[in-house]
Amino acid sequence: MRSTVTRMRVALVVLALLLAACGQGQAPSTAAPTAASQPTAAPAAAQPTAAAPSGAAASGEPIPIGIAVAQTSNVALFGQEQVAGAQVAEQYFNQKGGVNGRPIKLILQDTGGDEAGAINAFNTLINNYKVVGIVGPTLSQQAFAADPIADKAGVPVIAPSNTAKGIPQIGDYIARISAPVSAVAPNAVKAALNINPNIKKVVVLFAQNDAFSKSETVVFQQTVTNTFKLDLLGVQTFQTTDTDFTTQATFVLGANPDMVIISGLAADSGNLVKQLRDLGYKGVIVGGNGLNTPNLFPVCKSACDGILVAQAYSYQSESDVNKAFREAFKAKQNKEPGQFSGQAFTAVQVFVEALAALDKQSPIASADLAQLRTALNKQILAGTYDTPLGAISFTPEGDINQKQFYVAQVKMSPDGTSGAFEFIK
Ligand code: ALA
Repeated sequence: MRSTVTRMRVALVVLALLLAACGQGQAPSTAAPTAASQPTAAPAAAQPTAAAPSGAAASGEPIPIGIAVAQTSNVALFGQEQVAGAQVAEQYFNQKGGVNGRPIKLILQDTGGDEAGAINAFNTLINNYKVVGIVGPTLSQQAFAADPIADKAGVPVIAPSNTAKGIPQIGDYIARISAPVSAVAPNAVKAALNINPNIKKVVVLFAQNDAFSKSETVVFQQTVTNTFKLDLLGVQTFQTTDTDFTTQATFVLGANPDMVIISGLAADSGNLVKQLRDLGYKGVIVGGNGLNTPNLFPVCKSACDGILVAQAYSYQSESDVNKAFREAFKAKQNKEPGQFSGQAFTAVQVFVEALAALDKQSPIASADLAQLRTALNKQILAGTYDTPLGAISFTPEGDINQKQFYVAQVKMSPDGTSGAFEFIK
């Protein structure tokens, strides 16, 4: 019952966001180039190559790359941003000539928010659409179920947002461009202490039915107790499907901490924040990676104001590729790109550049699919990439080497109808 209510609420939030986008003349970015069976697919307004400048655009048989993220369910609060970022990459790289003159084509498969949906999407992309590789899924919880299928089939996966410990270790074909919780989460605690050095007492809350949240809270708790020697007053759990956080909020108000730290997904965390503030909690709130989306704002509205969230991407990054990405994204979406979009763009970029490098060594048109997938996987891990996340490469296991991280603070309008992440370092 609770989960049904949550889904309905989240569906309404997503619908409202889409209607808002349409009202600003923006088409919702749900077009799937070839997957006609997509539940959310709309006819593509413009095919990726249609807007390419004459002479520069790629041509020929497109190279299919799978995008298996959540376009529906509560996880679509992340997935919609991922689709938008990936589609900007498709258009941008095809305009630049694609893979040595050949275009790429994104094949979107909706994973929904659970493991079964991710497994289904992976199987469809691998067996029906014969993709060269997959960007996805959205959640680490889904990755632990679906990635072994791609690994067994010898299909390279680039995780665009899976930050739990252990993702690259799933198999040889699994890499990620989403920096792990250990690299990202401590930055937010550090920033909170810089802003308010008097923070001493902390309560930590996390979603106990989600792999990423369980992984992230370990890092947060270690940062609180080991790194900064703060007083951890208590740890509270919840479910990603919960909508009523009275128990957790009552605990927090009783413990009276200076700071709470939340690891969950967007809808649950947003409701938790709102109920904490409604019941009178006035201290600092640090959110994990699940609160790192503007789609959080319609959930907690004015109560989102002040939340600190560490970031693996900044739209203000000065590199040429980021400036191009930011400009193209704003032209399509009428807003700044967030981390989920920047990471999705980067995942597609890595595929494009690895394919191009491979093609120069030995033309990919003449390789059979199994050989191509295997060679592509090796090339992905061997390359270095100048991306919106900065210069990145991979460890031999497939984890990202990334240098720069950021922290942002949510600023909401007083009426809670609009907000932004403002970077503080
Ligand atoms: N970072 C979140 C996860 O790994 C989305 O599940």
